[in-house]
Amino acid sequence: MKANILEAADKPLAYKDAEKPTPGTGEALVQIKAAALNRRDYWITIGKYAGIKYPTILGSDGAGIVTEVGSEADKHLVGTEVIINPGSGWGDNPNFQSDDFKILGLPADGTLAEYVKVQAQHLHAKPAHLTWEQAAAVPLAGLTVYRALFFKAKAKKGDKVLITGVGGGTGAFALQFAVAAGCQVFVTSGSGEKIERAKQLGAAAGVNYKAQDWAEQLLHLAGGFDVIIDSALGDGFAKLPDLCNPGGRIVIFGGTAGNIPELNGRKMFWRQLQITGTMMGSPDDFKAMVDFVGEHKIVPVIDEVFPMANAAAAVAKMENSSQFGKIVLTT
Ligand SMILES: NC(=O)c1ccc[n+]([C@@H]2O[C@H](COP(=O)([O-])OP(=O)(O)OC[C@H]3O[C@@H](n4cnc5c(N)ncnc54)[C@H](OP(=O)(O)O)[C@@H]3O)[C@@H](O)[C@H]2O)c1
Repeated sequence: MKANILEAADKPLAYKDAEKPTPGTGEALVQIKAAALNRRDYWITIGKYAGIKYPTILGSDGAGIVTEVGSEADKHLVGTEVIINPGSGWGDNPNFQSDDFKILGLPADGTLAEYVKVQAQHLHAKPAHLTWEQAAAVPLAGLTVYRALFFKAKAKKGDKVLITGVGGGTGAFALQFAVAAGCQVFVTSGSGEKIERAKQLGAAAGVNYKAQDWAEQLLHLAGGFDVIIDSALGDGFAKLPDLCNPGGRIVIFGGTAGNIPELNGRKMFWRQLQITGTMMGSPDDFKAMVDFVGEHKIVPVIDEVFPMANAAAAVAKMENSSQFGKIVLTT
């Protein structure tokens, strides 16, 4: 089979022959129809990720058809159309993952290939209303923001929600999920064009985080927020507690813009704020997310579709965050 292989630090992915995997007990082989990128793939290709090993086939998001299984009990899966939960080894505690938690596409070979081998228990029926490209866009970002919004922040109808950096793959899902849940959603972005697109997807308003007074603008527009979903951190994070209503919840899961600067803790305890981290999600979160996508007929925002052979160019596009939504690859 052909696959996109990470061969060394700072070297673009190489699309070349790789051994087609054979499913063992409890495993399934999925013929990939479409895969999608996450910023994780970019971090790995520039060497900024823990536990990088060479060679590895990257890719956490994928959708395709089961062609082989390793166990008689999973025979019924052959021929089914699936999406893959990229997280394995979550463990028993819904509040956090176990030490065995792993993400598909490092250390195990991932979805940027013609075939991927996964545990059969991580397969879910492809949402019927989605194309292959759209379905492939769902797993990692959908899971992460579903848990961030609903498990961690307990976002509910009528809440005022702020999504920072809406143009990212997670940002666009967070907007769509929060709108579907009946929240009033505001966004930030580094691009006026992306703010306009966010409004078309249901955002009430947005501001450019590059403006000096972006936080004041938001306060003027929204008053204050019950929930903030942030994956940027960086200098702008210091303003987020100021934007919260009493009892506000800030959920973080990434650090695209750097680390958290000095914060005024007094505001946080006086307003009873919570700042909480989250990490992808449990198998139950994944199932609930897929059900939510089906129930609300969420159609992921796709920025661009590349041929699988061109994954190196697709990853390079993530460098300057020019995308809006997910970058997808098709076989
Ligand atoms: N822990 C987890 O489970 C988990 C899961 C998924 C992602 N992540 C992390 O979360 C982050 C986002 O992932 P992704 O896949 O959505 O990445 P992505 O598609 O590359 O999006 C990154 C977005 O960050 C925004 N951004 C950049 N600088 C910003 C700033 N100063 N303030 C606010 N926003 C800023 C940009 O938004 P605009 O384009 O609108 O300007 C950009 O589109 C990454 O760091 C990723 O590693 C973690």
